[in-house]
Amino acid sequence: MKITRLKANHLTAPVGNNLDDLSLSWTVEGAKAPRQKSARVEIALDRAFRKTVFDSGTRADIDSLAFNPGIALEPRIRYFWRVSVVTSKNEKASAVSTFETGKRGEAWAARWITAPFGDGSAPFLVRKTFTVDKPADVRVYCAALGIFQIEVNGQPATDEVLLPGYHSYTKQIQIQTFDIAPLLRPGENTLAFHVGWGWYRSSMGWGGSGPFGPTIGIACEVRAKSRGQDALLAVSDASWHCAPSPVLRSEIYYGEDYDARREIAGWSTNGCVAGDWAAAREFAPEAGAAGPLADRFSSPIRIQETLTPEVIKTPAGETVLDFKQELTGWVEVVNRAPAGATWRFQVGEILQKGNFYRDNLRSAEAQYTFTSDGRAGPVRPHFTFYGFRYVKLEGFPETVDPADFKALVIHSDLERTGSIETSNPVVNRLFANALWGQKGNFLDVPTDCPQRDERLGWTGDAQVFAGTACFNMDCAAFYAKFMNDLLLEQAVYDGGVPFTVPALMAWITKRESHSSCAWGDVATVLPWTVYTYYGDASLLRRQYTAMKEWVRYIKRQDDEHGGVGLWQSGFHFADWLALDNFKNPKDCIGATAPYFIASAYYARSVELTLKAAEALGEKKDAAAYAKLLKKVKAAFLKEYFTPAGRCAIDTQTAHALALHFDLVPEAFRPRLVAALVKKIEDNGKALSTGFVGTPILCRVLSDNGHADLARELLLREKYPSWIYEIKLGATTIWERWNSLLEDGTCSDTGMNSMNHYAYGSIVEWMYRNLAGLRPREDAPGFRKAVLKPDLPAGFDWVKMRFNSPVGEYKVAWRRTEKTVAFSIVVPFGAEAEVVLPAAPKTVKMNGKTVAAKNLVLRAGATTFNYAPAGQPE
Ligand code: BGC
Repeated sequence: MKITRLKANHLTAPVGNNLDDLSLSWTVEGAKAPRQKSARVEIALDRAFRKTVFDSGTRADIDSLAFNPGIALEPRIRYFWRVSVVTSKNEKASAVSTFETGKRGEAWAARWITAPFGDGSAPFLVRKTFTVDKPADVRVYCAALGIFQIEVNGQPATDEVLLPGYHSYTKQIQIQTFDIAPLLRPGENTLAFHVGWGWYRSSMGWGGSGPFGPTIGIACEVRAKSRGQDALLAVSDASWHCAPSPVLRSEIYYGEDYDARREIAGWSTNGCVAGDWAAAREFAPEAGAAGPLADRFSSPIRIQETLTPEVIKTPAGETVLDFKQELTGWVEVVNRAPAGATWRFQVGEILQKGNFYRDNLRSAEAQYTFTSDGRAGPVRPHFTFYGFRYVKLEGFPETVDPADFKALVIHSDLERTGSIETSNPVVNRLFANALWGQKGNFLDVPTDCPQRDERLGWTGDAQVFAGTACFNMDCAAFYAKFMNDLLLEQAVYDGGVPFTVPALMAWITKRESHSSCAWGDVATVLPWTVYTYYGDASLLRRQYTAMKEWVRYIKRQDDEHGGVGLWQSGFHFADWLALDNFKNPKDCIGATAPYFIASAYYARSVELTLKAAEALGEKKDAAAYAKLLKKVKAAFLKEYFTPAGRCAIDTQTAHALALHFDLVPEAFRPRLVAALVKKIEDNGKALSTGFVGTPILCRVLSDNGHADLARELLLREKYPSWIYEIKLGATTIWERWNSLLEDGTCSDTGMNSMNHYAYGSIVEWMYRNLAGLRPREDAPGFRKAVLKPDLPAGFDWVKMRFNSPVGEYKVAWRRTEKTVAFSIVVPFGAEAEVVLPAAPKTVKMNGKTVAAKNLVLRAGATTFNYAPAGQPE
């Protein structure tokens, strides 16, 4: 038995992260016993646990999902924590990890500095040499307006890239902490930063959003703590020195221009004499251009994997690298060019008629130019990123060696938790495509796409994909950061939720125009999803204000329009990109009436806020939300259903939504289900849903006795379908069902991405319905689960693993013509209710005959075998 996955605020040994509401979690593996008898958590200032600051004592009620010691933390301290567990069979194990606090709101001695040349927007190098007696416990605390790389004595101080990441800069600037002690030596040392534009200074968004602020710069303190001494070793001010950067131009959408001849050898080492160094300029950020400094929430972004290309010559004579996979990151190339020669890279997602193509990237130039200094070695962009599969080379010799090129895949470094494999290779490819969609769009912010001139935290996309994302990866900390930004933005939008977080379209000021249903509902859906998957009430508590504010925002629209209990005003993206708007096929908004969707989501958001109030013991709030929910549901029914239960909005999405959000009385459900099935059948057994309907459509069918129709939608090869995309070579999920037409032509360049994960939300159906694993909201974090798989035709076997916050669940089923075999593993401390599909009265459980009812499994492995009694309908 061992204790693994020790995390503080859902991060492994975080350094300098926001640790308010400290929450410790871990997993027990390999125990013989099914559950914990007791546990103990100790926190100390030293590895030997002599200076203990907290001891829970041995207690039965300690929860491995989220233990809140409730102690006051000091700034800039490394804490050691130990958890010891005793199982119900008296097995024992303990494990130690650390967490380290950042500045925690402490006064800041550093000054913002920028380059003295130009207007404060030129990329620059900046350095400082300082003295250290004993290089132990030395940390850099730094904040940036822009993007930076950090080096100490000629070495990178971290393997994180694209620092400080992308957040709501104008509301809060996140501070990074680096332990630089291993790079220091007694005496003189040099700390240096390379600073560029990044998201902060780039023109993110559209419609003239402009940069967050005009001046790029850094603020930084080097501090040492030892033997009770707290020393400030260096602090950013006008005594630091700046030089021009080899980066001539760098912008998120533009890409980067780099001239290696401008590199300064030894720029981050002691006594560097080369280069034009001048005293840094201190500055104060312009009003509104930077929020207060706060310890980071973000997870690290790192290079996660590398891919090698095939080199192709296109009919147009271009030399193009094909990485065979759409990804987000950089191309790295071995420089072999003579000094002064310039190489140019352009990226694209698809080929057209075999030729390089990039028109669907719209105004994003997405290029990289590199001017050589004649020195051989690997080179890559610094302060931008690209979404691509293909790379066009210019300025290269006629033949290039594929071994000289690599794609570096970059995303937020999150623990991979889930996987599904089935007997159907195309479905496996679909699973992989959605996972690549998540990798490509989890770059500090959950984004819509990684390639064109957006790459924004579109809230609707994040909302519909969250349930899939949390199966695939441990997203708790990633979303906690996004939700923190969301909360900060809501304050400006009077409870509303801007279309993107970080917010960009500041010109949309009208209250009824800046927040859309299904997009803004991320404010309630995401906290509840995160709570359900991770079982940490402190995260729910943190976002409870966001949930309440969002409901208040909707209710006010309702009150201002008669207070009937419906949301019938303002702009809504609604069932974005659905295929059923026959009246206006060019319109992105599908046929489902926007106010139907708005009102359905109104009910949903009130319901989720009610659930949160109950989970948090907010009884008074709960009573008020229960009353409001009743009113909204009644109004919804009155407005959109005949007394006999016919839905007035005749679309797949409307039917699916009413069923999924439980908005109709039990007696209406069969009719509604039958109508939905008929609508799909009348449409040639094809979906016609967009961003709102698609994520739930198959789940609704499966949950209402039509697993086989769900399976038919999934396995459909003809347009429109998921497999249609794969047949046309998709390696991620497209934005539109018809991003490519049947002959492979790009359908439109206006808004057409090949890496948009919204429809990848079908993967949630794979986990919940095909493999059958569902979290239970009354025992979140998968402490209790329901295993209720479908057994649709078209699959011989399915295997799923999910390393949930309590430990790993495994579900595998295999069937032959006459038998079904299940193999299930439930993790330590968990409990799963199993509902076997098509089971006869009795089944074999671990070889013994048992009744196929009320099957509750504790931790351990169990098999079931039986002859199916026919698929239940
Ligand atoms: C984005 C989306 C987003 C949508 C809003 C698009 O431009 O790429 O995915 O949700 O606009 O409707």
